[in-house]
Amino acid sequence: MDLHLTDKIVLVTASSKGLGKATALEFAKEGATVLLSSRTEETLALTVEEIKDLTNNPNVHYKTCDMSSAQELNALFKWVIEEFGGVDVLINNTGGPTAGGFKDLADEDWMTAFEKNLLSYIRTTRSVLPYMQANDFGRIINISSSSTKEVIDGLILSNTFRSGMVGLTKSLAREYGKHNILVNTIGPGRIATDRVAELDQLTADRQGISIEDVIKTNKNLIPIGRYGEPEEFAKAVVFLASPANTYMTGQSLIIDGGMLKAL
Ligand SMILES: NC(=O)c1ccc[n+]([C@@H]2O[C@H](COP(=O)([O-])OP(=O)(O)OC[C@H]3O[C@@H](n4cnc5c(N)ncnc54)[C@H](OP(=O)(O)O)[C@@H]3O)[C@@H](O)[C@H]2O)c1
Repeated sequence: MDLHLTDKIVLVTASSKGLGKATALEFAKEGATVLLSSRTEETLALTVEEIKDLTNNPNVHYKTCDMSSAQELNALFKWVIEEFGGVDVLINNTGGPTAGGFKDLADEDWMTAFEKNLLSYIRTTRSVLPYMQANDFGRIINISSSSTKEVIDGLILSNTFRSGMVGLTKSLAREYGKHNILVNTIGPGRIATDRVAELDQLTADRQGISIEDVIKTNKNLIPIGRYGEPEEFAKAVVFLASPANTYMTGQSLIIDGGMLKAL
């Protein structure tokens, strides 16, 4: 299937590693102009070179940006507008929130997670909408978590703010559908990245068991019997964010190998 991405400018935030990186790579394979961002310049620069080498696509660029900072987001979009004129496809991604239950968290933790995990997506969306509206085309994917369908014990910040993302997505889809701006949320279940390895280690430490045992237990909860690979997640993102998707909007999808029992 031709995804019609060769003339599109795609911004993938938080993309030096993990799901964001895999998503940027898939867009580059499709011939899009791909813009990456995250906080650590060294990792980001290496990732961009790696993607260019793997795809022979020279139109892959980066700028550092902390998703928690309004100032850095403004600088990112100034660069995007000045250098590329705008964004056709926005993939909102950011680092995961601090793990913990209700008793572990103070106001400061809640404010930090709100700014990093929800307000950041609101800010990026606000920046791209005028350009998308003017072009009568836009695709926005909000990367969330399986916690939007089934809460995860010990991740109350994710359970809270990612549900907000689903409401945001549905509202945006309804307000901007008439401008051919389609907005969807995609949540990973357990995709093998550094973040998931960190969370598995945390569980192992808390329960006093080995990380291998944690992984084995987790795999048993997944009908497909294994963690997902980042590119398996990325391929679904790329389709939904492409011009080939013409009618699916306002949805909250989970890519989890069948892990969740929730309908
Ligand atoms: N993998 C899964 O199965 C899974 C499941 C549920 C939810 N999620 C969520 O999906 C998102 C991506 O997860 P991942 O597994 O790909 O994580 P990852 O492998 O740890 O990668 C995180 C990426 O985000 C960047 N990043 C972190 N904090 C940032 C910030 N404040 N501003 C800008 N960039 C930032 C990191 O680069 P720098 O550190 O250099 O900034 C890195 O490129 C996270 O929100 C995670 O909680 C993932």
